[in-house]
Amino acid sequence: MTQKPHEMLAATLSDEMDAVNGLIRTRMASEHAPRIPEVTAHLVEAGGKRLRPMLTLAAARLCGYQGDNHVKLAATVEFIHTATLLHDDVVDESGQRRGRPTANLLWDNKSSVLVGDYLFARSFQLMVETGSLRVLDILANASATIAEGEVLQMTAATDLKTDEAIYLQVVRGKTAALFSAATEVGGVIAGVDEAQIKALFDYGDALGIAFQIADDLLDYQGDSKATGKNVGDDFRERKLTLPVIKAVAQASEDERAFWTRTIEKGRQEDGDLEHALSLMAKYGTLEATRRDAVAWADKAKQALTTLPEHPIRQMLHDLADYVVARLH
Ligand code: IPE
Ligand code: IPE
Ligand code: MG
Ligand code: MG
Repeated sequence: MTQKPHEMLAATLSDEMDAVNGLIRTRMASEHAPRIPEVTAHLVEAGGKRLRPMLTLAAARLCGYQGDNHVKLAATVEFIHTATLLHDDVVDESGQRRGRPTANLLWDNKSSVLVGDYLFARSFQLMVETGSLRVLDILANASATIAEGEVLQMTAATDLKTDEAIYLQVVRGKTAALFSAATEVGGVIAGVDEAQIKALFDYGDALGIAFQIADDLLDYQGDSKATGKNVGDDFRERKLTLPVIKAVAQASEDERAFWTRTIEKGRQEDGDLEHALSLMAKYGTLEATRRDAVAWADKAKQALTTLPEHPIRQMLHDLADYVVARLH
């Protein structure tokens, strides 16, 4: 079988990825609180695609970086990601992550919140070790933006007034901010010019948006075995994502009443998910959402044209295609 782009990146960067995974393993430990390695090992050993640390390594390599601070930064980025997943599954009351029961289900919310905090703090320790204030600035800003995106989503997600612009703001915050920070810091430590740093940021931003739109689409049309998450979770959690926002925008009076009951009021009955899916089919909103994801992936590829020609650039190009190819 042909290798998927993220597997090609992983193979190309395998020595550095091994170093990143080693660093994650040593830094997730805690001498004093055994609950910490229990929870982190559960999540970290389940794998995950390691997309974000790979982006940092790839960006640094693409920019000709020769040092080894990119490994620390890549681990920092994955720590931030892991911390947000622990918190996110509490907030979303999710039961499955990376094909395993979530930490909040296996242990409890308290463990997930506190271990998530610990991982956040560990990520800051790691990035300080690079000694670059600019890198600290980028990753500190990204962390704030992620939290802001999650809070905005919390208040906007069950409100039928939420439109595509607000959705985009949420997605940029909760997901794309870490993708763009991951690629940007790779260029920053490599010391390339500002135009290239901006191109890396733009690539990460557009890729992250495409990625989250795809994730939201897969929540309705994915295969739980492949995604490692349950189908229909967003509907049950009353989360207004793009396929629903597009259906609400075109809803008849009756249909609006349905969305008000199920999403705004959260009074869901058997068969509601199926009805929601039939309304999305009626207006073709899953297909329209897929087209939006493809447009963001195209933007990501466009940003790459400013960067030096390099085999890794091609892999990043293919990665943008792959993020949306899962949707065909
Ligand atoms: C999950 O991200 C959170 C989202 C932004 C949708 P990933 O799909 O990259 O999660 P892992 O790390 O591979 O499990
Ligand atoms: C992912 O958001 C979490 C963050 C990006 C912080 P979602 O809640 O949409 O993603 P999943 O479906 O739980 O992975
Ligand atoms: Mg979630
Ligand atoms: Mg969430």
